[in-house]
Amino acid sequence: MKLMILGATGAVGSEVLRQAVKQKGFETVVAPTRRPLESPGAARNPVISFEQPLPEADWWSVDAVICCLGTTLKQAGSKQAFYHVDHDLVLACAERAREAGASRFALNSALGANPDSRSFYLRTKGETETGLARMGFERLILVRPSLIDAERNETRPAEHLGLLAGRLLSPIIPKRYRPVSATAIAATLLRELSGGPGVVTLESEQIQ
Ligand SMILES: NC(=O)c1ccc[n+]([C@@H]2O[C@H](COP(=O)([O-])OP(=O)(O)OC[C@H]3O[C@@H](n4cnc5c(N)ncnc54)[C@H](OP(=O)(O)O)[C@@H]3O)[C@@H](O)[C@H]2O)c1
Repeated sequence: MKLMILGATGAVGSEVLRQAVKQKGFETVVAPTRRPLESPGAARNPVISFEQPLPEADWWSVDAVICCLGTTLKQAGSKQAFYHVDHDLVLACAERAREAGASRFALNSALGANPDSRSFYLRTKGETETGLARMGFERLILVRPSLIDAERNETRPAEHLGLLAGRLLSPIIPKRYRPVSATAIAATLLRELSGGPGVVTLESEQIQ
């Protein structure tokens, strides 16, 4: 299987990359990013601009894609800029890979993703899921983690506080709302690429 990883410089994407290059099941791994990867290992790492139109290249031709692309409202600076990354860019990359032959797509989505949500963040995630479902992938995997437990270089004070509270209260909060490690999310995304046709949605408590 030829695998593409999107967002490989991020917390979950870098973990997907780390695990994928160690697995024997992948013929090739390509991880296009907008800044070079520190340790691409055996992966091909085209450094590209993700602004549209996306570049033409032979490496879009893969069997499966794992997408961990995303930003935060704070990083993006506006709702419009956030939507551009978490919705438009994800769908543009998915479409390009689909046209080039990809039949499997796994998205790192979010707990509560719902196109009808009153929360802008969750509505965006839900619309991205719906957009992907319309693209006709043979197998579409939507993984919806709660707060992601990972080491980060940048400071995200609110997220950090949430993580500390989540770790502390983990034994008494329902499993769906407990923080979940980037390692477990990556393993789930990779494992779920195999399997029969259809749309598979995995809630946070199913990530392991
Ligand atoms: N944080 C949480 O607790 C949480 C919870 C549930 C779901 N999620 C979702 O899970 C996904 C992965 O999360 P994460 O924590 O791994 O994210 P992350 O560490 O912030 O990584 C995001 C990735 O997306 C890339 N990216 C962002 N904007 C881009 C742009 N304009 N063009 C090209 N690449 C861009 C980043 O590249 P650079 O390194 O170049 O910036 C990075 O590779 C996101 O969609 C996030 O919304 C997060």
